[in-house]
Amino acid sequence: MDNWLGLADRRVLVAGAGGIGEACTAAFTAAGARVVIADIDESRLQRHENGLRADFSTVEGCEDAVAATVDTLGGIDILFHAVGVNHRVPILETADEDWQRTIDINLTSAFRLGKAAGKHMVNAGWGRQIYCSSVSSLLAHPDHGPYAASKGGINQMMRVMAREWAASGVTVNAIAPGYTETDLTKGHLDKPGVREHYTSLVPAGRLGYVEDLTGPVLFLASDQASFVTGHVLYVDGGRTLV
Ligand SMILES: NC(=O)c1ccc[n+]([C@@H]2O[C@H](COP(=O)([O-])OP(=O)(O)OC[C@H]3O[C@@H](n4cnc5c(N)ncnc54)[C@H](O)[C@@H]3O)[C@@H](O)[C@H]2O)c1
Repeated sequence: MDNWLGLADRRVLVAGAGGIGEACTAAFTAAGARVVIADIDESRLQRHENGLRADFSTVEGCEDAVAATVDTLGGIDILFHAVGVNHRVPILETADEDWQRTIDINLTSAFRLGKAAGKHMVNAGWGRQIYCSSVSSLLAHPDHGPYAASKGGINQMMRVMAREWAASGVTVNAIAPGYTETDLTKGHLDKPGVREHYTSLVPAGRLGYVEDLTGPVLFLASDQASFVTGHVLYVDGGRTLV
């Protein structure tokens, strides 16, 4: 069963070195893959051999990160998009620049990175792209206007990429976590009663941990998932069932 996932020596760009990106980088590395991990926050890159500072809110930041991955690793086989921000305010109080910033970082970066990496993958005739969607792509959480729009956009953009590249050996899928304990959610979950409230909405009776996501992400990146494309895999303890 050695290398059952077929990930040994695969060349991976993990975009976003937060809780989920970092956990999946460790899992890819343990499976024998070679990883470049990129983030705007240098403090998140220090413990990584191939840490790359990148600002994914710009077209250059996205294109340069893919080019640097190809330079460093000799190519790019897998893109895992784990970048995201969430500015929690009601629609009536959402400033235009906050809308635009969330869409730029969460959705436009996915298009730019996916396009830049997709060129290499389509040319090579093999590739895997996995995007972080969210249960917010489906559920109408209050105070999540731009975030929900960005995640709904990811689901549908990902499906078009999957269809366009299916004949070239490139699969494109998304994972959609429920509330998972990372820096993205900590400030909100730590408010009085909030963690308990969200936990009560999950049939599994708990919130997610980053370790809940590593198996699904590695599966979608693997040889075992070569006929799986265009899916949103909810990793949410049943949250979207109720
Ligand atoms: N944690 C959750 O509950 C949860 C649930 C559903 C979906 N997600 C999604 O999973 C992905 C990863 O989230 P996480 O929980 O690891 O969050 P996180 O906050 O721990 O990590 C996000 C990372 O994105 C980086 N980033 C932000 N703006 C950037 C920019 N302009 N350029 C480069 N990097 C930038 C941050 O520095 C941070 O390291 C996001 O897309 C998020 O929306 C998370």
